Amino acid sequence: MNVHAYCAVVVMVIFGANGQLDTNRNEEQRKSYTGYKLLEVIPHTRMHLSKLRQLMDQDRIELDFWKEPSHVGRSVDVMVSSTVFRRLTHYLKKHGMVYKIQNHNVQSLLQNANSRSRRSVNSLETDFYGDIYMYEYHTYSEIQQLLNSIETTYPLLCKTMVIGKSFEKRDLRLMKISTGKGLNGTAKPSVWIDGGIHAREWIAPATAINIIHLLIRGYVTNDTVVLKMLNDFDWYILPISNPDGYVYTWTTDRMWRKTRSINGIYSCRGVDGNRNFDFHWRETGTSYNTCAGTYGGPEAFSEPETRAIADFVLKNNKSIKLFLQLHSYGQYWLTPWGYTAWTVPRDHADLLYLARLGRNTIRSKYTSHYLVGTAARMLYPASGGTDDWVYSVAGIKYAYTIELRDIGRYKFALPADYIQPTSEEIFEGIKTVTKHLKIELDLKL
Ligand code: ARG
Ligand code: ZN
Repeated sequence: MNVHAYCAVVVMVIFGANGQLDTNRNEEQRKSYTGYKLLEVIPHTRMHLSKLRQLMDQDRIELDFWKEPSHVGRSVDVMVSSTVFRRLTHYLKKHGMVYKIQNHNVQSLLQNANSRSRRSVNSLETDFYGDIYMYEYHTYSEIQQLLNSIETTYPLLCKTMVIGKSFEKRDLRLMKISTGKGLNGTAKPSVWIDGGIHAREWIAPATAINIIHLLIRGYVTNDTVVLKMLNDFDWYILPISNPDGYVYTWTTDRMWRKTRSINGIYSCRGVDGNRNFDFHWRETGTSYNTCAGTYGGPEAFSEPETRAIADFVLKNNKSIKLFLQLHSYGQYWLTPWGYTAWTVPRDHADLLYLARLGRNTIRSKYTSHYLVGTAARMLYPASGGTDDWVYSVAGIKYAYTIELRDIGRYKFALPADYIQPTSEEIFEGIKTVTKHLKIELDLKL
């Protein structure tokens, strides 16, 4: 073996050990999805739909709806353990529903997206302004280090702010990107982007981080479009709005969705952050059962994470003109209302208009297609959502929820190869949206 080859081996061993440190440490405690199946059920009648919705709400059998029942004819994805599988299929058959097994072993699906290469935290930092941004998923602590190192590298442009703490006392670390005051020294309008309120939707924090990266890269390379975005708006980006949940998906249960707050000794843990906002709280599409994925909490804003976001948004609601919350999956660009499909908000037409502009840009530059419409109509009515509260209570007109890739092939287990295209297409959409938003704001002056 020559010297170089020897070095390479040593480096690989060190990086290998490093890279796996926080992923493998808890291997024994990590929940295994071996034998779990993923079913696709298509409700063909309204009766089917209501039978599926009934399943969602009850706590006797362990079922996890990855894609909730929404419309007649629209598929539902549900994950089920091998022990409950028979009972579920019996129930489906009894009510005249057919199902397809999409995956016989969810564990194998998760393994693809979970595996990570040998890159270490250190190389992540130094690589950030080369070509490598986030090409793979990173842990909570890596992302915190990354945000801090960006701040150190670009102190005039980037500032991290801790806007609150999670239930387990982790920082809610936000990145503010600003080129300074606007005309006449007045504060600029701003854009808010957050990701990861649902812990298992890993593509959301990854995309948020890459949006930070793309803004900085555009600034550094004097990209005229990006310079204008930065000139016109300040940016508040919170990549991980549910840190405890995110950590838990790395250490213990990849499919965890909620926060990790304690609901009482005999209850399940966690609250769905996107059912916890104080607007039509716990009315529809949300559960009273602490074990359910859509549990709305004991009261509105029971979670320190949602309260911190709400406080920050209220404090800055004069400046924030565009609010984007990233989720996955399904590829939707959603507008309020989420809580009802019966009415639309006053600004419905404008909300749709801007969303469609963004969506059209994405479609023309990439092949991905995002559906635009109100959350309640495109998906299902669900109240207590961030978007509805931001729109109605905080009074921010352009409040959106974006469901990122994909449309069902990999679902939550979206392989890391898709991080880059997903981030870039959303960034293109945001370029168009902020350009038109600026025009609207100028017309109002
Ligand atoms: N998938 C998201 C959720 O279920 C969609 C939220 C849309 N907004 C709403 N207010 N329902 O939380
Ligand atoms: Zn979500």
